[in-house]
Amino acid sequence: MLPNIDFTTTKAYKYLTDHFIDIASIDLKALFKADNDRFTKFSLQFEDILVDYSKNRITDETLALLIQLARECRLNDAVSAMFDGDKINATEGRQVLHTALRNQSNTPVLVDGKDVMPEVNAVLQQMKTFSEAVISGSWKGFTGKQITDVVNIGIGGSDLGPVMVTEALKPYKTRLNLHFVSNVDGTHIVETLKGLNPETTMFLIASKTFTTQETMANAHSARDWFLAAGAKEADVAKHFAALSTNSKAVEEFGIDTANMFVFWDWVGGRYSLWSAIGLSIALSIGFDNFRELLAGAHAMDNHFRTSELEENIPVILALVGIWYNNFFEAETEAILPYDQYMHRFAAYFQQGDMESNGKSTDRNGKPIEYQTGPIIWGEPGTNGQHAFYQLIHQGTKLIPCDFIAPAQSHNPLGEHHTMLLSNFFAQTEALMNGKTYDEVVAELKASGKSAEEIEKLAPFKVFEGNRPTNSILVKKITPRSLGSLIAMYEHKIFVQGIIWNIYSFDQWGVELGKQLAGKILPELKGGEEISTHDASTNGLINQFKAWR
Ligand code: F6P
Repeated sequence: MLPNIDFTTTKAYKYLTDHFIDIASIDLKALFKADNDRFTKFSLQFEDILVDYSKNRITDETLALLIQLARECRLNDAVSAMFDGDKINATEGRQVLHTALRNQSNTPVLVDGKDVMPEVNAVLQQMKTFSEAVISGSWKGFTGKQITDVVNIGIGGSDLGPVMVTEALKPYKTRLNLHFVSNVDGTHIVETLKGLNPETTMFLIASKTFTTQETMANAHSARDWFLAAGAKEADVAKHFAALSTNSKAVEEFGIDTANMFVFWDWVGGRYSLWSAIGLSIALSIGFDNFRELLAGAHAMDNHFRTSELEENIPVILALVGIWYNNFFEAETEAILPYDQYMHRFAAYFQQGDMESNGKSTDRNGKPIEYQTGPIIWGEPGTNGQHAFYQLIHQGTKLIPCDFIAPAQSHNPLGEHHTMLLSNFFAQTEALMNGKTYDEVVAELKASGKSAEEIEKLAPFKVFEGNRPTNSILVKKITPRSLGSLIAMYEHKIFVQGIIWNIYSFDQWGVELGKQLAGKILPELKGGEEISTHDASTNGLINQFKAWR
């Protein structure tokens, strides 16, 4: 069982509230001036990942109090409960064991008294055999040709993880071309299938439940497209595989159960890239690299499970996030990878974080009176610099940012990578230091501006600074380091959910919209005027019917 503690009633919370009053007015620059050891003290290294959290508005005391908060909320008990297979996803009555999927040390993991590792390993073996056959070309399509293109059809956790990882690890690409269809908007599948050859295309239908409307609609359209090319029903087995927990629905769809890759209800959708849902990843980068991804995540699991709280990267990141979210009242967090290959990383953690911690009921079933999960967003640097960084630097909102960059590029082209990294370093420095009025005046003077011009312009050129960032420098983005990075964020989200006393592994908030869409769908089919909703919804539906 998870502990059940309202963190606002802890002693540490009270101390932090008082301490915040002191810290709120302190400048990061002053903190660096006052402490030569600040970087050493407030950075942690895990394998090839350096996490520098020194540019945060924290002191030794802040950190000590945040750690005390974690202790008072019995974080260690919660971590054990997750890894030990307690049913910590209580509203769905399920364990949370995505860590078992990457348990490379193979120690038994018990679910209801049964070790799940043999099953986990059997599916991994099945994924290995299948992916190697498709990659090598020994797997043939219905006309005897090799598969060249793989289309993953899935949405949410059955899409975002595979897309993000296959993009991030493109330098490891096999000869197969991966495509992803998620949106029920027909445009997505139509555009994806343009130019693909049914004889050489493999579809992976990725759905934990195998009932998701979008995925099922796209899967049926894919099958129609395939059969329209002259293939027979029996040929479906050579071109369709299913990644799911629902064997019955897979069979009903007509996919050969030999081509079914199972996972289990103790794997949350947004934590499923490590499971059979990762088959597209294995096809994209090869099974050995997929295993490396799991190994990197497993290494981070061990770090998270065994490190002292003070040395524990996911714990520190989570606590610093809570400091801004609950004391500074920051509403969002930006994730800014300085790596073009990681361009879907922030989108992936939008689901990972916001579907997990976007909750307003605590573990007692009571409405929450404090802030929970932040709004997560971000784009790769340097593109973001030329778009939304203005607001981060000079806007009225406090936006804590994670800057992520690899020291080594997969494409060391001329000066590109040093230019990219110079921006990575410059941005966090600029956000911290800002530019004072006096500095602006001196600069304008040096550029030859008149006193009158200087007076007019200077206020607009002042940067307040004191804007917090984490810098995450990775030696190189490899399957292993990416696996560790993803697991690091997963555990950060877990820690925050524990402290906020919410259930991070359900997602009831997505149900209402689905239910209403189910009700509205038949109403859109007939010609009659609709009057069963509020005036706005009726008006919109009726205008749609008039215009379509
Ligand atoms: O609607 C949200 C959600 O349930 C996600 O949690 C999940 O990742 C996604 O839909 C897809 O679900 P499935 O894999 O069952 O198709």
